[in-house]
Amino acid sequence: MARHLITSAIPYINGIKHLGNLVGSQLPADLFARYQRARGHEVMFICATDEHGTPAELAAAKAGKPVAEYCAEMHDIQATIAKGFRLSFDHFGRSSSARNHALTQYFARTLGEQGLVAEVTEKQVYSVDDGRFLPDRYIEGTCPNCGYDRARGDQCENCTKQLDPTDLINPRSAISGSTRLEVRDTKHLYLRQRSLKGDLESWIDSKSDWPILTTSIAKKWLNDGEGLQDRGITRDLHWGVPAQFDGAPWSGMEGKVFYVWFDAPIEYIAATAEWADATGQADDAWQRWWRTDKGAGDVTYTEFMGKDNVPFHTLSFPATILGANRAGGAQWKLVDYIKSFNYLNYDGGQFSTSQGRGVFMDQALSILPADYWRWWLLSHAPESSDSEFTWENFQAGVNKDLADVLGNFVSRITKFCRSKFGEEIPAAGSYGDQERALIADLTTRIRAYEAAMEAMEVRKAAAELRAIWVSGNEYLQSAAPWTVFKTDPDRAAAQTRLSLNLVRLYAVLSSPFIPDASQKMLEGMRTEDQAWPDDVEAALAALPAGHAFTTPEVLFAKITDEEREEWQGRFSGIRT
Ligand code: MF3
Ligand code: ZN
Repeated sequence: MARHLITSAIPYINGIKHLGNLVGSQLPADLFARYQRARGHEVMFICATDEHGTPAELAAAKAGKPVAEYCAEMHDIQATIAKGFRLSFDHFGRSSSARNHALTQYFARTLGEQGLVAEVTEKQVYSVDDGRFLPDRYIEGTCPNCGYDRARGDQCENCTKQLDPTDLINPRSAISGSTRLEVRDTKHLYLRQRSLKGDLESWIDSKSDWPILTTSIAKKWLNDGEGLQDRGITRDLHWGVPAQFDGAPWSGMEGKVFYVWFDAPIEYIAATAEWADATGQADDAWQRWWRTDKGAGDVTYTEFMGKDNVPFHTLSFPATILGANRAGGAQWKLVDYIKSFNYLNYDGGQFSTSQGRGVFMDQALSILPADYWRWWLLSHAPESSDSEFTWENFQAGVNKDLADVLGNFVSRITKFCRSKFGEEIPAAGSYGDQERALIADLTTRIRAYEAAMEAMEVRKAAAELRAIWVSGNEYLQSAAPWTVFKTDPDRAAAQTRLSLNLVRLYAVLSSPFIPDASQKMLEGMRTEDQAWPDDVEAALAALPAGHAFTTPEVLFAKITDEEREEWQGRFSGIRT
């Protein structure tokens, strides 16, 4: 049994995520977690809300609530929606937790003690009209790298370059639009990433199996232009992890907090500690996932995220870990594999949280069950390039794959059996060439499905699964037990026995993608046997002759043209 630590990029607290966010991190991470569990491995699947930073402060102010209260409420909302999508986190933590405060300060202190933190008095943008220092992302202007005119002070979303606000051309306050910006002195802590460059480089070079999307972004920021820069890890804000604390190797940082991008990835670790706390376990329980000096040496750690997150996970967070490990005490686990995604677009444009454009997670669940979305999104995951959601495509994918292929197979064979043999697996007859050919075909396809899942090739895995469903459908179509029954009922019984066993097999194989439908299929077959089909022939004999079943309700209803048009209209505008 292998041990898999799996994290999904932690969503910002302010607001409900759209389907593009979902398919770029949480959903594929869930697919992988469910798959590894189904294969009998030990899994720790972690996510959380990313609660610090100015966006949270501003959103709370807008809602007229204290920021802590706002975050607590929004966390519960996001947790409920995650459950609705069947995201199977072992723990859904909060970056504002006491655990994360303690761990963030621990990492900062340890880095400081290694001489990796510099105190820098710097000039920062102060907005006279807003009456505050402006955090990086609240300064907008033109990107010096690509010329995009709505670049933010922390990163250009057009070319992904990490920026400093003073790099921007024609800067303005994103809060008020004011250009009355002044540069004032303020002291901040900097992580000396440059002195970790060699370590980072050899670590990244050792990852020959990483997706090109991941390594190309990492190498770009490691070597482009002036290369890796030291990064400010504190901000002039109140809400966050205090930068001045007992035992801190610096002084004069009162009233400042760590930068949200410093504490957020540390929350992956903290959330695992929160999990141990919530389940009444001691520190060993979470440390064996994160500390190689405490048994995490055999853990495989995989991270899932959108491409805009890659620099933080290939450079910033690893710099924190590598730097802390230099202290020689606790040895923290570095990520083994980073699976990153391109963007999903919406109906000819972009999904946008700030503009309320697209379909948001709560809205999606209000019109259709999770499985419909899970299937379509995963089978169209933006892996090698950006992909696009259109209502036509969604309707076609759901109706064809789920209703016409899988749903139709299950309903056809269960209803046929009920009408001719009753609701139990028929005993008569034996398998012939056709069945042997099907078993051989399924064996090849299931091995390909496993390979795609192991490699986290999400679309390919979906295509293999679809092909597995199609095989069964084609078998049933050509075997035609309803015709054979008239002349050779024993033969029809054998065909039916095999097909009903296929329903269980499909439930097991499909559960990482469509867990609810899989559960219904297993309930229909009245079995809890979820054994993975290592041996397909044996798996197709799991339900023995005489085993009773219940003909399930319709698994997937087709999306009608009227529904599609109605939804298309309803979600064409801007969410208010
Ligand atoms: N909140 C960030 C986003 O939605 C992701 C943070 S991931 C972590 O883009 F590494 F910081 F945890
Ligand atoms: Zn740019």
